[in-house]
Amino acid sequence: MTVSVRTYQPEDAEPTWESYFHAIRDTASKDYSPEQVAAWAPEQVDLEEWNARRAAAHTFVALINDQVVGFSDLTDGGLLDMLFVHSSATGRGVARALVSAVVAKGRSLRLTEIHTHASRTARPAFERFGFEVTRANEQNWIRGENLPNYDMRLKLSS
Ligand SMILES: CC(C)(COP(=O)(O)OP(=O)(O)OC[C@H]1O[C@@H](n2cnc3c(N)ncnc32)[C@H](O)[C@@H]1OP(=O)(O)O)[C@@H](O)C(=O)NCCC(=O)NCCS
Repeated sequence: MTVSVRTYQPEDAEPTWESYFHAIRDTASKDYSPEQVAAWAPEQVDLEEWNARRAAAHTFVALINDQVVGFSDLTDGGLLDMLFVHSSATGRGVARALVSAVVAKGRSLRLTEIHTHASRTARPAFERFGFEVTRANEQNWIRGENLPNYDMRLKLSS
């Protein structure tokens, strides 16, 4: 089983949405309530808008057997906004492969650090990748639900 990573293409809109939905509904649901999860990953999505948001950042997709199983991204300003792995593919190094691609992109952009807003679920993985918590956010409102998370950052050595 090999994980490969490539840059996002418009045809990845649906499978990346599926990864997002199942990462939250199946995996992050261990750390957040059903109401929080429903607000974070609603049943409906506008795939055109979703695609536009993915295309607006440097977005990477991870594949196993040619199937998209997760994605991550980086803005020019150094924000890693998204890191989601389909619940059927967790624990196989998919997030590690994605964050490695994001870090390489950050270095090529000559960023000095990458920051993220990590969920309770993702915090341990980000710590394994060398990120440190800079602040606990008790207030993080999404569609009327509060989903506390953590500001984290990774310093990039030159
Ligand atoms: C968090 C998430 C991205 C991890 O993806 P994954 O592909 O299963 O992670 P990996 O297999 O690459 O594991 C990465 C490392 O983190 C560790 N890790 C992952 N989850 C962990 C946990 N709950 N506790 C401790 N360590 C954990 C792994 O052991 C691994 O360490 P290693 O490579 O040093 O052995 C995935 O579970 C997910 O999408 N979660 C739900 C959505 C979410 O919260 N996304 C983040 C929004 S900010």
